[in-house]
Amino acid sequence: MIVNRPPMGWNTWNTFEANINEQLIIESADKMVETGLRDAGYEYIVIDDMWSLKERDKDGRLVPDPQKFPHGMKYVADYIHSKGLKFGIYSCAGYATCAGYPGSYEYEWLDAKTFAEWGVDFLKYDFCFHNFNVSADVLYKRMGIALANCGRDILFSACSWGSEHTRVWVKQTGAHMWRSTYDIKDSWASIKSLGQSQLEFQEYNAQGCFNDMDMLVVGMKGEGFVGLTGCSFEEYKFHFSLWSLLGSPLMIGCDIRNMDDETKTILMNKDVIEINQDIGARQPFIVNSRENKVRQNRGPDDSFFENTPLDCPVIAKFLDNGDIAIGVFNFSDGKQTVEVTLDALGLPKISGKTLKLTELWTGEEVNAVNRMLFLGNTFEHHSCKLYRARVVDEL
Ligand code: GLA
Repeated sequence: MIVNRPPMGWNTWNTFEANINEQLIIESADKMVETGLRDAGYEYIVIDDMWSLKERDKDGRLVPDPQKFPHGMKYVADYIHSKGLKFGIYSCAGYATCAGYPGSYEYEWLDAKTFAEWGVDFLKYDFCFHNFNVSADVLYKRMGIALANCGRDILFSACSWGSEHTRVWVKQTGAHMWRSTYDIKDSWASIKSLGQSQLEFQEYNAQGCFNDMDMLVVGMKGEGFVGLTGCSFEEYKFHFSLWSLLGSPLMIGCDIRNMDDETKTILMNKDVIEINQDIGARQPFIVNSRENKVRQNRGPDDSFFENTPLDCPVIAKFLDNGDIAIGVFNFSDGKQTVEVTLDALGLPKISGKTLKLTELWTGEEVNAVNRMLFLGNTFEHHSCKLYRARVVDEL
């Protein structure tokens, strides 16, 4: 199974935690279709932790909690499939899941077989309560090889939060995405700290196995399990734009049965999703010089980088059709003025080329002036712009 684009879907955890059941999954699957989310590319419906009983059955199999899932998981999977969607479930590399339900350690082959029989298409695999005598890479290899031999294509979503240098070994395990952050919360502080921490991991993100910046909080508005303060519309746009540009999987975490228009506008911006799903999956890079210098000069142990947060990076990514995606992200609490040169994007004067930019939230057009792009004069705090730039002849 090869995964060419960042996976997209919806996951129960951010909003519902323990409050999951068959009805919720069925209603959410219906909404995925009715609202247009499915047609916008969202595909997986993932049941996170707390779906099973606390004990395995006499044959060692995991048992869905009959109070929550009275018809079992095959029934849920069949319903999800009937809607043209795919079904994801959760387990853990440890003895127990993070919420204390049975983990898959030493049951990897039986669980992979069970998931395949149920019609599972996606497994999120957590890292709590694991055996410290077995290295992290081997714990993930154990499930990776079991899934690859279970007779069904199951996307393997490794969730060890980037710990134990996950990025170095995760592609060995057969994982198709790996959590490169700790858990997200529905607040600006969380988006900022996760976002800033990811810029140095871009060389690890590629087709086959994507950096997973954790599930989206867009539209949570302070409600639900990880709902804290909530975020403004501008901050949710920033979050969605950054996750999209950096090629993270886009897994929705709000209650999709009750989305307002603002939330739909963000989650279904086709132009932004297109940047995320670009088949080239190329490595994004920082273009503006001060921010770039901060990154290039970081110390060997990353501490310099951590202590010197990026205020307002301009991040570019070459797209497969020759266009360039360019995002400006004002992480700071003040206004910023942002300008970049065409040279920094690989377009010196001698090329005879320039760029024509279209902002993907507002439609605003920007042209280069004296081979400079002025991407915001007194650019508001916590705001972002995401452009698609076309290469054209300089007149
Ligand atoms: C960990 C993961 C979360 C969620 C919970 C479930 O914290 O990082 O995404 O799956 O476990 O208990």
